Amino acid sequence: MNFESPPPQLIKNRERDDGERDSVRQIGATTGSHPRKFRQDDDDEKQRKGEVCAETVSLSRIEVSGFVFKKLDLHESYSLDEIVYRSRSGGLLDVQHDMTALKQFDGKYWRSLFDSRVGKTTWPYGSGVWSKKEWVLPEIDSDDIVSAFEGNSNLFWAERFGKKFLGMHDLWVKHCGISHTGSFKDLGMTVLVSQVNRLRKMNRPVVGVGCASTGDTSAALSAYCAAAGIPSIVFLPANRISIAQLVQPIANGAFVLSMDTDFDGCMKLIREVTAELPIYLANSLNSLRLEGQKTAAIEILQQFDWEVPDWVIVPGGNLGNIYAFYKGFQMCKELGLVDRIPRLVCAQAANANPLYLYYKSGWTEFNPVKANTTFASAIQIGDPVSIDRAVFALKNSNGIVEEATEEELMDTMALADSTGMFICPHTGVALAALMKLRERGVIGKTDRTVVVSTAHGLKFTQSKIDYHSKGIEGMACRYANQPVEVEADIGAVMSVLSQYLDKGSKS
Ligand SMILES: Cc1ncc(COP(=O)(O)O)c(C=O)c1O
Repeated sequence: MNFESPPPQLIKNRERDDGERDSVRQIGATTGSHPRKFRQDDDDEKQRKGEVCAETVSLSRIEVSGFVFKKLDLHESYSLDEIVYRSRSGGLLDVQHDMTALKQFDGKYWRSLFDSRVGKTTWPYGSGVWSKKEWVLPEIDSDDIVSAFEGNSNLFWAERFGKKFLGMHDLWVKHCGISHTGSFKDLGMTVLVSQVNRLRKMNRPVVGVGCASTGDTSAALSAYCAAAGIPSIVFLPANRISIAQLVQPIANGAFVLSMDTDFDGCMKLIREVTAELPIYLANSLNSLRLEGQKTAAIEILQQFDWEVPDWVIVPGGNLGNIYAFYKGFQMCKELGLVDRIPRLVCAQAANANPLYLYYKSGWTEFNPVKANTTFASAIQIGDPVSIDRAVFALKNSNGIVEEATEEELMDTMALADSTGMFICPHTGVALAALMKLRERGVIGKTDRTVVVSTAHGLKFTQSKIDYHSKGIEGMACRYANQPVEVEADIGAVMSVLSQYLDKGSKS
């Protein structure tokens, strides 16, 4: 194997036998031919040439294992084709890749391979998740993949926000919410639903896929299931999610159960139901989703030309995502793409902060809390399923936990929006945490920092309306920008405009 020569994937846009070039291969792409046909041509050609490449070498022995987080768990492992969510002793499972097989290729090879797929539309590699297929689900047949070309999200240079409010020039916001269903959940759901698609084709008894949700998971689940023709069942806490979130599973044809309980109550019920019925559980307890979510971390490194940022701040609720980021970074380090990993910060709403309290206790005592209402409704979780995963990630990344009050998160969201973003309240939590860490000097002025934005602000317009109309009880809404009601008359318009311009020139 010659690692010096360019990876074969770099020789991409070659003419195919039929003289055509690779072009868009996506669900529903109307190219006049089977959208997935050309992947086969690629593989065949490489095999004909006898090239050794990650796409043709066996990277199998992927399995879920239960020994990672709690050393007490006896080592046990299962094939991904088995339906199992927890270890025998009730611990969390983790997908284990065959690192020996992956190490047949060095870091340079993987960097080049992943870079070669950016902007390509060859099925399924145009997806930010499936462009890392060998590290996600190497064995799945590309024809079984259900993808909406998720990932490849913008890493936004928050130049104005950073300079104006934090004295920072190297602040970035990873917009994971600019995605098919408007949140980072698409990254994991493409993997989970693809695997379910595979299981159903293998005639495994899976009648549908179910989840409890604070809104975004159900939106992603129902969209991907609808694309694959798989029934989806979602348990939602009534009146605790935004209308924009609720309408998504309804529109995508999910069976929606709206329940008079909170997320933790829905979670308990879905676990009981999936233990009784052949409904596949899609919550992040299921370690498959984290495999897709971890690709956002790899993408960040890639977007910095494989330079490692100093800090990555992730808003946390059920706490799967913070671990997914850790896993993505750690895998890049282990496989030689980078030589260190960033420090992770998990940001929680003060109204739902069990991880923060645990951290503050010096990791001595974990107690679930009763989560209070928060504008960051998707992280209103008092008993996070992935607590052990989060602690593992934070301890191994020299990480920290910070919290933000309702006023802090809403004010920060307004400030961020005033610099051209349109963030969700969860991203407000993460940015507010950053502000506090800057104030205390924990994060330095020149530290390269990435804040993970987890959902699209358009899903949470009501909270912005309430804020800007100063309609939140007990909150000053200091940065509210209220519309001016004015008569449709040129004199009246000129008068308010001149007042506005006058004020602007003095500030
Ligand atoms: C918008 C948004 N941000 C953050 C989170 C928290 O992610 P996790 O539950 O993995 O901590 C969620 C999860 O529901 C979410 O929907």
